Amino acid sequence: MTATTSDIDKAAIDEAAIDEAAGVLRAGGLVALPTETVYGLGANAEDATAVARVFETKGRPPTHPLIVHIGGAEQLGDWAEDVPASARLLAEHFWPGPLTLVLRRGRRVPLEATGGLETVALRVPDHPVARALLAAFGGGIAAPSANRFGSVSPTTADHVRAELGDAVDVVLDGGPCGVGVESTIVDATSDTLSILRPGGVTREDLEAVLGHPLAVPETSRVRVPGQHPSHYAPRARVVLVEPDEVVAEAERAQRLGHRVGVFLPPAFTDTPVEAHAVAAVPASTAAYARELYGFLRELDQRGCDLIIASVPAEEGLGLAIANRLRRAAGPRPATPEAADAAPDRETSAS
Ligand code: TXA
Ligand code: MG
Repeated sequence: MTATTSDIDKAAIDEAAIDEAAGVLRAGGLVALPTETVYGLGANAEDATAVARVFETKGRPPTHPLIVHIGGAEQLGDWAEDVPASARLLAEHFWPGPLTLVLRRGRRVPLEATGGLETVALRVPDHPVARALLAAFGGGIAAPSANRFGSVSPTTADHVRAELGDAVDVVLDGGPCGVGVESTIVDATSDTLSILRPGGVTREDLEAVLGHPLAVPETSRVRVPGQHPSHYAPRARVVLVEPDEVVAEAERAQRLGHRVGVFLPPAFTDTPVEAHAVAAVPASTAAYARELYGFLRELDQRGCDLIIASVPAEEGLGLAIANRLRRAAGPRPATPEAADAAPDRETSAS
């Protein structure tokens, strides 16, 4: 299908473009679609062959499960079984939106989409193009982030084209993603809900709706680099230091001959810094989340071999940002197989 690649321009998003993309999904093709979090690489969730192409295209190990995107909370029962009341409550509150619920797999979902698991991750995206596509297609769209395995998620259609190019049949351009980090994944397969991956819906907002605290993954709290595999990683090595050490550390590395990219913390944006490239971190975590992956890509593009950054306070969206930065700074598996073998409760290798 690569010969039929057609990129659909943002200005030209219309019913015809959506219908064409829905037809591509029905024919077993791959559609890159905008969501409010990041761009996804979508296939018909019920078509095991199309789903296999998603894994091949990303270079992702087949045991890493995909998220199935559906049109609305009322479809939950079509795709999952034994949905607990707490999960329905969260779905009603946060869908459409950046929340993914892991539930018991419904029969409609092939094991290929869940990496062989008896659970399925479901989400209703909050983006007009994604919603229009889901409505026109009618089924579920299995879609991981539209990047090669282990690298930075795309937040613009250009990122997708640069990374996946002709391997995708259609790229729907919905503009830059508004949230910028992936969805929050909540495990709702047992009575005790827990956060598997912090993301666009904050822990505080989830807890306010549930009325009780939620467990968060250890990886989001661990500070020591070297204890978890790297995902969401740019080419440049990422080193995390305290905010007030960023400038000195960057200048030291630059003097040692590195091409240093700096994530300059908000309190230091007026401080001059001797480095190869500087990204000024916005004071608002919403803006930071929106820019995070773009910054990482940009510093790569500018030829940086080392990125010096610090993690924000781990509250609100800061929890997801800190999690992604720590993962970007983590050790890099040599092969997808090595990544697959690494124990990773969060399983956000993607
Ligand atoms: O915001 C998002 O979630 C984006 C957009 C495109 O929706 N998608 C995304 O997909 O980030 P992906 O494949 O890059 O990450 C999905 C994560 C993976 O870490 C995967 O392991 C986890 O969801 N996941 C999927 N199904 C699961 C399951 N049944 N149990 C536990 N984790 C699951
Ligand atoms: Mg991913």
